[in-house]
Amino acid sequence: MAPETPGHGPGGGNQTQETLSNLLQETRRFEPPADLAAAANVTASAYDEAQRDRLAFWERAAERLSWADRWDTTLEWNPPFAKWFVGGRLNVAYNCVDRHVEAGNGGKVAYHWEGEPEGDSRTITYSDLQREVSKAANALLELGVRKGDRVAIYLPMIPELPISMLACARIGAVHSVVFGGFSATALKNRIDDADAKVVITADGGYRRNAPSALKPTVDEAVAECPQVEHVLVVRRTGQEVGATDRDVWWHDLVDRQSDQHTPEAHDAEDPLYILYTSGTTGKPKGILHTGGGYLTQTAWTHQAVFDLKPETDIYWCTADIGWVTGHSYIVYGPLANGATSVIYEGTPDTPHRGRFWEIVQKYKITLLYTAPTAIRTFMKWGDDIPAKFDMSSLRVLGSVGEPINPEAYVWYREHIGGNRCPVVDTWWQTETGAIMISPLPGVTAAKPGAAMRPLPGISADVVDDQGNSVPNGGGGFLVVREPWPAMLRTIWGDDQRYIDTYWSRFEGMYFPGDGAKRDEDGDLWLLGRVDDVMLVSGHNISTTEVESALVSHPKVAEAAVVGATDPVTGQAIVSFVILRGSAEESDDIGAELRAHVAKTLGPIAKPRQILVVPELPKTRSGKIMRRLLRDVAENRSLGDVTTLTDSSVMNLISEKLPSAKSED
Ligand code: WT7
Repeated sequence: MAPETPGHGPGGGNQTQETLSNLLQETRRFEPPADLAAAANVTASAYDEAQRDRLAFWERAAERLSWADRWDTTLEWNPPFAKWFVGGRLNVAYNCVDRHVEAGNGGKVAYHWEGEPEGDSRTITYSDLQREVSKAANALLELGVRKGDRVAIYLPMIPELPISMLACARIGAVHSVVFGGFSATALKNRIDDADAKVVITADGGYRRNAPSALKPTVDEAVAECPQVEHVLVVRRTGQEVGATDRDVWWHDLVDRQSDQHTPEAHDAEDPLYILYTSGTTGKPKGILHTGGGYLTQTAWTHQAVFDLKPETDIYWCTADIGWVTGHSYIVYGPLANGATSVIYEGTPDTPHRGRFWEIVQKYKITLLYTAPTAIRTFMKWGDDIPAKFDMSSLRVLGSVGEPINPEAYVWYREHIGGNRCPVVDTWWQTETGAIMISPLPGVTAAKPGAAMRPLPGISADVVDDQGNSVPNGGGGFLVVREPWPAMLRTIWGDDQRYIDTYWSRFEGMYFPGDGAKRDEDGDLWLLGRVDDVMLVSGHNISTTEVESALVSHPKVAEAAVVGATDPVTGQAIVSFVILRGSAEESDDIGAELRAHVAKTLGPIAKPRQILVVPELPKTRSGKIMRRLLRDVAENRSLGDVTTLTDSSVMNLISEKLPSAKSED
């Protein structure tokens, strides 16, 4: 974060040091629908129960799972190392699959899988899943994979992806899913770091109407990974693949296996998976999750935050399984709860921009979980597209991945949710494993743009630079004060980095790296990464607040702001905006937007420059890469662009620079 300077805000020069300004005022509130509240899985009493006895609360959540042996100790806490449900033994795959079959729900659909090519779909029941996972587990055993071994998975969004993850979980192997958009170097680094002996991949997957190859990337990566003994290849697209003597086809090996496999119980603290998160710099961090606590919290939060009724709901999380959202809320949480989910292979604009809403209509989706970046894209495409589809089945909408701008939230509520569905803005991270801060749809009167309150059993707080809780109305650093069941256990192979990254900024508290404010009612608003905070004339201003102010202008669909060095103000705010489909770019749009921000947040937040751009640079998980925009704003050559989805975007943006509209 930028060094602190005394605040001298609008109220006069004598206030105490300000950690993060609180500029945005929002008065809209949405009460839970009465019928949803009346039948909600979780009511307000859950907060009191957890408040009274946090560990007893999590024990009850753990009791929703099937344990081979019950734990002796709920939490063993040697800061910052936690063990949950110590002595407990369970099989995660059994909990996600077999127990539902045993309960008589084998015929129930676990996944409706929708391929990108239209008409390409598969229905997978819990019994199907049990057979497929058992076969894949037997296949991995035949390849010599044993408990504790690491398996890298590099697959498109096809059923073999969750099947492979569950097969690993079943035999106690540790999966490391690598998102299918990553390069050979990224894949190689992840295979090496985890020392994986098997890689599961496919010839390719479908993306934007065309087969997109994966196998050549694996070949390139694995050529430099002598520890990899086998590459298991799913045939999806039928593309030509170069064969090596390590390769084995999925259909040759898995299809001939027995569909019977008896799951053994594993220790609650045995590793379940590693998932790499890039962080801002340097070597990716292998976030390690274990079985018992992780499954407890993903399952509990999934039924609480979405009010899942497994008998009637059809749930769709649009994330890629290669990200933690997919791990926790496509695979482990929903399956542990016996849910019926949809998995979609492709992109939202294939073959047309209404594909998502067509899927909602086709499967009568009731619970939808997506990301602000997608919502803002739909806003840009126009209201008329979702209006063409029947989405009356929807009842709860979720958001994750970035702060959701109030205007995007309201758009989502209105144009997707028909002003009927509560929107839950869920804050969490790869590291937290499960949702931490979120409204409960049957309890919370939600405010657009706010994640509201820590869930029951989670002790999140906002603190100042010294680690003291900020009062209502104050801004600062988000922290978590007590361990939680799905927390990362360490960074794979690097305990010291785990301590340094998350537990060193504030004594005895977990620091996620996000800024936040607590409003006058005590509700939490996430304000983006603290590395992105701008220091303007002595005020720490969050990028999120300025971006939200810009998006609240009717012509703006999406905005990214950065602080650029300025001789007068220290840093000045430079904004990049994408206009809505219906808006025309006019000569005075810059002045108009600057005035709008000044009116919404105050003159201190008025951008120095507004650049209208066609696209914004995003990571493959859809987060805006403000670092690159800072390079543009400060006329530097661009830093590392390898994690960018589309590097041509930066050329389009740089071209805009000479025409930057700067006034005053
Ligand atoms: C970072 C974690 C959690 C799964 C997907 C991302 C940002 C996430 C929100 C939200 C504001 C959010 C934070 C967080 N973030 N959800 N609802 N409101 N910010 O996982 O890639 O590990 O990213 O995403 O900055 O630290 P991730």
